[in-house]
Parts: sequence; C-alpha cells; structure tokens
Amino acid sequence: MTRVGIIGTGSMGGMLARKFTESKAVSPDNICIYNRTPEKMNALVKISGVEICENNRDVAEKSDLIFICVKPGEVKDVLMEINACLGESKTLVSVASDISINKLSEWSGTDVVRVIPSVTSECLSGVSVVAFGEGISQSTRDEVISLLDSISRPFVTTEDNISLLSDLTSSSPAIFASIMQQYAQAAVRNGGLSESDAEFLVREAFIGTAKLLSEKNYDFSSLVSRVSTEGGITAEGIKVVEEGMPEVFDRVFLEMSKKHLKTGEIS
Ligand SMILES: NC(=O)c1ccc[n+]([C@@H]2O[C@H](COP(=O)([O-])OP(=O)(O)OC[C@H]3O[C@@H](n4cnc5c(N)ncnc54)[C@H](OP(=O)(O)O)[C@@H]3O)[C@@H](O)[C@H]2O)c1
Repeated sequence: MTRVGIIGTGSMGGMLARKFTESKAVSPDNICIYNRTPEKMNALVKISGVEICENNRDVAEKSDLIFICVKPGEVKDVLMEINACLGESKTLVSVASDISINKLSEWSGTDVVRVIPSVTSECLSGVSVVAFGEGISQSTRDEVISLLDSISRPFVTTEDNISLLSDLTSSSPAIFASIMQQYAQAAVRNGGLSESDAEFLVREAFIGTAKLLSEKNYDFSSLVSRVSTEGGITAEGIKVVEEGMPEVFDRVFLEMSKKHLKTGEIS
C-alpha cells in the first residue's frame, strides 16, 4: 500500500489529508503529516486519525508520495531540508502555485509532479490539474491519478498550461462566489431587498443551476437558451452580460497572469 506524506497541513494539506481518508482512498495509518505549527496537526489527527511525524525529514522517509503543501515562498527551504531523504522510490507532489517542475527538481534532486487542487474537493468534486515531470513512471502516474480521482476529477496537462487551468479550476470558486455576491448586491441597490434575502435567493438559484449542469447535463449555451427566450426579459439581461463581461474577464485573466509571473519569480 502506498504511503502518503503531507508537509504543511493548512488549507490545502489539511483538506487532502481529510479527504484522502474520508473517501477511503488511503487508510489513516498510511498517511503521515508534519506542520510547522503543531496545533494544526493535532486537530487534524483528531478528525482523521493520520500519523504525526517528528519533522519534515521523517515524513519524507516514511512516505512514497510526498505532498508539499506549503506556500510558494516556503517550498525551497522545505525541499532543501528533505532532499537527502528522497531516494529513487519516492515521488514528490507539489501543490504550490507557480513553482516550476525544473526548480522543484533542482531543489529536491528528484522527479516531480505538480498538482493544483481545488477547495471543491471538500465536496469530493471539481478538478485537480496535474502536470507530470518527464521522469515520472507510468505506474506512478496511474497512482497519482487514482488518488486524485477519489477527491476530484483529475485533468492532466502540460506545465505551460497549468497557470491558466488553475485560474479556471482552483481560483474559480472564489471568482464565481464574487460574481454571485455582485449580482445579489445589485439586487439590493436596485430593488430594496435586504442583503441576507438577496444572498439567500442568489445562492439557492446558483446551487440549482449547478445541479442542472451536473444532473441534467446542460452545456452553458443550452442553459442560456432554455431560460433566455427570444424577445423575453432574461434576454435583455443576457445582452448586457455578453456586451460587458468579455472585457471584464480578459482583465481578470491578465491580472492573474501577472501575479502568476511574480509568484514564480519570488520563489
Ligand atoms: N488555497 C488554495 O485554494 C490553493 C489552491 C491550489 C494550490 N494552492 C497552493 O497550496 C499551497 C498551500 O496553500 P494553503 O492555502 O494551504 O496555505 P496555508 O493554509 O498557509 O498552509 C500552509 C501550511 O504550511 C505550513 N508550513 C509552512 N512552512 C512549513 C515548514 N517549513 N514545515 C512544515 N510546515 C510548514 C504552515 O504552517 P503554520 O501553521 O506554521 O502556518 C501552514 O499550515 C500553496 O503553495 C498554494 O500555492 C492553494
């Protein structure tokens, strides 16, 4: 049985440990963790029953797949700390945004997989974007995909696409929530509704929309057409969205791509 190690049990590392165990993809006694601040590890052990390690080197020694779940600026120090423990049988899986496979391999002295998880894995849904380093064997690729499949839909890409795909999958829950918030706030400004009522109504409509996409298999265009009939009221709103949103989203991607570059540079 593959042993999974997780270094850094914050938002992402903690979620991976909980969801790998909850989904039964990995049994708790095959997951070991270490985090700089011990309280986070203790809380996680109570929930999931995983093993706490003495330090980061201990995680590397005891695991086959080692997930690095620290902030991008902290990755180099962690890899320099554990690189002596990374033999041929071990695979490093970095979830850090914008730290290239080249840099990760240079610091760790080993082959690397990059994964961009999403907070949607809290509900065992959404996408994990994956890019494999060249030296990763087919059996390890299969193992990583199977593990991620238990908490999400894995989507394999090449590294040059990973930032854009990360914007579409990992950042998008925040983008969608922000759009819904703007929609609700516009209703408050224009209709005298309370904020809590507006949020409740938009939230329920959004959940229903996600169900239509998932359970009834609508694509975006057919859902727009189903609701927005020609000459109808919704069609007027859609016209405004289609006029204004391309520019907004071009700017969203432009600004996020600038930030990806900066994050990659400071590491
Ligand atoms: N959040 C997201 O939605 C998301 C999505 C995709 C990818 N990512 C990537 O995931 C990574 C982690 O993000 P996050 O949001 O989970 O951050 P986070 O909540 O700050 O978690 C990072 C954890 O790493 C621990 N840590 C830092 N240095 C350490 C060290 N030397 N040894 C052991 N543990 C150490 C921190 O411990 P302390 O308790 O001491 O702070 C903290 O618990 C980032 O690289 C980010 O780019 C995040």
